Amino acid sequence: MALMEWNDSYSVKNAAMDKQHKGLFDLINKLHAAMGQGKGKDTLPEIFDDLVRYTQTHFTAEETILQKYNYPDLAAHKRQHADLIRQVSELQKQYQAGDFSASMKTGEFLKKWLIEHIQGTDQKYGSFLHQKGAL
Ligand SMILES: [Fe+2]
Repeated sequence: MALMEWNDSYSVKNAAMDKQHKGLFDLINKLHAAMGQGKGKDTLPEIFDDLVRYTQTHFTAEETILQKYNYPDLAAHKRQHADLIRQVSELQKQYQAGDFSASMKTGEFLKKWLIEHIQGTDQKYGSFLHQKGAL
């Protein structure tokens, strides 16, 4: 069973951002499935890299659109993103240093973080962008 299932309660009312959030869910599920199938060491580093890279790409895209529309809470939002990147990079380092439980921790950590972040911080920009007519 997938670790994360998308539903409308995660929508931020912006098609591009919803699509990227779904992409993050998919990658977290991929990481989770690879662990469950015992694929472990051969495929995990690659999925881990993809996940970290995609998270960064997504945060940059989100910050760019919020900047474009002068979103008032952008600074605080960026801080949350930077904190997450720091924590995930730390877990990735632990994994690379041989602590294989770090991949499990990352999946669980990202799941919890993303749900809270999307349904809290991100959904606040949803109605703002909607009012501004952002696509
Ligand atoms: Fe965000």
